[in-house]
Amino acid sequence: MRISVIGCGYLGAVHAASMAHLGHDVVGIDVDEAKIASLSVGRAPFFEPGLPEVLESAAASGRLRFTSDFAAAADADIHFVAVGTPQVADGDAADMRFVDAAFSSLLEHVKDGDLIVGKSTVPVGTAARLAELIAEKQPGATLAWNPEFLREGFAVKDTVSPDRLVYGVPDGAAGERATGLLNEVYASAVAAGTPVISTDYATAELVKVSANAFLATKISFINAMAEIAEVTGADVTKLADAIGHDARIGRRFLNAGVGFGGGCLPKDIRAFSARARELGQGDAVRFLDEVDKINLRRRTRVVELVREEAGGLAGVRVGVLGLAFKPHSDDIRDSPALEIAMRLAEAGALVTATDPQAVENARRRAPGLVFADSAEEAVRDADVVLLITEWPEFTALDPVGIGALVAHRTIIDGRNSLDPAAWRAAGWTYRGLGR
Ligand code: UGA
Repeated sequence: MRISVIGCGYLGAVHAASMAHLGHDVVGIDVDEAKIASLSVGRAPFFEPGLPEVLESAAASGRLRFTSDFAAAADADIHFVAVGTPQVADGDAADMRFVDAAFSSLLEHVKDGDLIVGKSTVPVGTAARLAELIAEKQPGATLAWNPEFLREGFAVKDTVSPDRLVYGVPDGAAGERATGLLNEVYASAVAAGTPVISTDYATAELVKVSANAFLATKISFINAMAEIAEVTGADVTKLADAIGHDARIGRRFLNAGVGFGGGCLPKDIRAFSARARELGQGDAVRFLDEVDKINLRRRTRVVELVREEAGGLAGVRVGVLGLAFKPHSDDIRDSPALEIAMRLAEAGALVTATDPQAVENARRRAPGLVFADSAEEAVRDADVVLLITEWPEFTALDPVGIGALVAHRTIIDGRNSLDPAAWRAAGWTYRGLGR
């Protein structure tokens, strides 16, 4: 099938490469010339395991190209819109400027019979509004909404083999045709038995935001239990194991620690609350405000733990392990790790931070921090070591070897990902979160 992908950021670049990998003819379009230049030579503009290989094989097949010229969309019959919807600067809502601009540019090049497929995470009601715009500008085209559930770090796998496919389509024949076309796009996943939920626009939009709201709630639930565990001497990791054995609850996304960050969960729950308030249903999701607050309190808790252990922050040497919002990513958007490192430095601590992939991004955001190339270098002469992003190379560190490098053997495990017994046996003061 002939596909265009509008927006070649995280979602779009992965989608374009994955669609070409599945055998489609794909053109990726973005207004950012630097991104296009990088993708055109097969280089991913961000770190994502598996993406370079897929980009390379797709480019070699001749089925994938990138351009900043929207007119290239005219050669495609199916157009995916995958631009970002960040949080607005002065509130909680999603910034829809990129989506609106993408649709207005794209509509200049869409022809009768084309299918436009929204993938961006949008406030419920957006697809209905955009369908009206399409009916006005190009009535022969149809709109579908096909939310994306990929996780950074597993983006290619999640795109090629998703755990479900959700299509928001209009009523009647146009909707049935749209469902058929999307089933052809995702033919390999459909043949593998992936559940397909074909529904209306509003449901499809809500599936996406409610899934992220649920995941955020699950994480904040366990972090709330961590707060209780901290004052009662209970161990939240054991608690999570125990309740996780109940299949109705499940153990995944019950890891207590510094909480969630990234370009999705934090801004999506805020945008959902903002949209619910606009709809006069703010009460229905008011708990999400609490989910957000619990999450942000964990960052403060870590800063306080360092202060407690070091007896103050001014002049205290802190070795920070991790800057990305999670392992296997170089993404520092709303990263708990980077925020904690910056807050410690602002309070006068002498912070040296490292991360296997995110140092360059962090340096651009926080040029005042000191960065190291390795964990060993970051913790040298440290009074306190702080593990905030659970990269395998950090969780595998040898407490004895590392112990010889630091000034004081104090470790704060912001992800509860170390074995406290092993670290204590090596002479460390170990502090986890909620244990
Ligand atoms: C999230 C969703 O998981 C995806 O399904 C969704 O498609 C994506 O947002 C999106 O909307 O684009 P992602 O942002 O890649 O994916 O990250 P997650 O793996 O969900 O992790 C989010 C944050 O929660 C990370 O900071 C992680 O460290 C934290 N987390 C996760 C915990 O603190 N505890 C856990 O048990 C799990």
